[in-house]
Formats: sequence, C-alpha cells, structure tokens
Amino acid sequence: MSHAKAILIGEHAVVYDQPAIAIPIPTVRMQVQLTPRSDQQQLITSAMYNGSLQAAANSRFAGIAVLIRQLLIRFDAVTQGFGLNIISDLPPERGMGSSAATAVAVVRAFHAAFSAKLDHAALLRWAGISEHIIHGNPSGIDAATCSADRPQWFIRGQKPRSLALPHTGVLVIADSGIQGQTRVAVAAVAQRLQMDPASMELITGLGILTRRAAVAMADDNFATLGAIMNSAQSKLAALGVSNEPLERLISSARANGALGAKLTGSGKGGCILALAADADAAAKIATALIAAGATQTWQYDFAK
Ligand code: MEV
Repeated sequence: MSHAKAILIGEHAVVYDQPAIAIPIPTVRMQVQLTPRSDQQQLITSAMYNGSLQAAANSRFAGIAVLIRQLLIRFDAVTQGFGLNIISDLPPERGMGSSAATAVAVVRAFHAAFSAKLDHAALLRWAGISEHIIHGNPSGIDAATCSADRPQWFIRGQKPRSLALPHTGVLVIADSGIQGQTRVAVAAVAQRLQMDPASMELITGLGILTRRAAVAMADDNFATLGAIMNSAQSKLAALGVSNEPLERLISSARANGALGAKLTGSGKGGCILALAADADAAAKIATALIAAGATQTWQYDFAK
C-alpha cells in the first residue's frame, strides 16, 4: 500500500538542496496485490500497463519493470511466476506522486510476499531505482511522502522530518486534467539554470519561502501561509513550469476565497493546491475549481 502526496511548497527548489514541505494524502490510495502463479508467467495488470513483465521494457511501465526485475533478483526468484495487480486512486502524471506511490507499494508487496524486513531508508533506496529511470533527477521527496504518515520537512539526502501543523485549515487539490511531465519540467529547469545562472535566485527564494511557510504553519498563521504560497507560485511561473490551465485554476481559487494558491508537483500540467480557512470555504473553492475546468478535486483537512 501507499498513497498520493501533495507538495505544499518547495517543488523544483528541492532538487537543488532547498527544503520542501510535502503532505501525504492517505485517502487517495495505491494498492498492489502480488500473487504467485504455478506457471512461470509474470503478468502485470494496471491502468497504465497490462501484459508481461518482459514486454513492459518498451512501455510507460519500463521504470517499474526494472524495479520489479531487481526485486526478483534480490529474492532469488527470477523465474517465479506471479500476477501483479495495481489498483490506484491516483491520476497518473498529475504531480500527486503516482510513479513514486507505485514504486513504494511494489517494494512493500515484494517484501511482504517474501516475509522480508524493510526499513524506511531501504524502502526509499528501492523506490529510487524506478524514480531515477522515470524522472531523471528525483530529489526523493515523492517516495518519502507517498510512504509517510505525517507531513514532511524534506531536504535531499537527509532523513525526512515530521513538522508542526496548523490546527485548522483545509487544502484543496484540483486536477487540471492535463498530464504533468516531471522529467520534462525538471530538465527544463536544469536547462534554464544553465543558460541563465541568475535564475538560481528563484531557487534560493523558494527555499526562503519554504522556511517561512514552516513558521507560518506552526503559528496557525493562514494569511501569511497563503501569501507565501502565492509568492512561491510567482517564482515557479518565472522558472517556466506553470502554464495557462494551471494559472486559470489558481486565479479561480483566489477569486473564490482561497488564502493562497499555487501549482503542486512538477507543473506544466498536473494539479494546483489552494489554501482554505475552513471546510465551508474549501467546498466553495472546490465547486469554483470544477466550474473553471478542474476534472477532480480532493481535500486535506489539517484538523483531522
Ligand atoms: C515532483 O513531484 C517534485 C519535483 O521537485 C521533482 C523532485 O523533487 O524530484 C519537481
């Protein structure tokens, strides 16, 4: 099992060693069922890919297929027949961590099937195998959050830490319906930093905003947290990872009472995140977002 994640603040900057805050969304679940087969067939069933493990090498499932092959080697079970069924509530490629959640759930399913111990650091190392193939240069935040129970203060290469949360407030996540492209977005930011080294100021600026967001969260200061989210969105747009559909949803959330709104995840499609003062405000924002073209919304209530 694993679940979705939403990055509150710090995406992209986290690739360059700045902190980020990410929130597990346990209600949006990913489940992997692994059952042995008496023949030697190794079959995958999922929304993304249906077929043999061998044929997955040339599919969108290729990164997870490499992970599965390495797990089979680890468990000395390369010729073991199995059926692997992935049941996911997560929309793929929408900045909600679908690839990381799949990796985490697959690694857990294999360790459970072979009754092997799995500590959290090892889980993240395993998930890193497919994340590197799928995303090129992952910070590790997606796998850390898709496997966590509590919101995470994440710095690349360090053990993720839980952090103080507001006592009220609701986050509304809305799907633009457009596939985000993490690999493309991360590569575009890298290219931009190479062509224009002065844009590193946007990255360090995002790091400063993330530190201020952690203080605002601990103080239950929503007005400040919302303003910080809006500033982060401006910096992400300046980095080139926003787009018109995301901006439309962000404007709609702000016009309908959000204290702040920004894209979440890699951008260039995917989801936005809006901060609402309470459940009533969140319901109004969610309705407005659907009217503005969002295909689906979810909520994360800090009080629960
Ligand atoms: C993607 O969910 C978050 C990014 O910062 C990439 C990463 O940290 O690996 C865009």
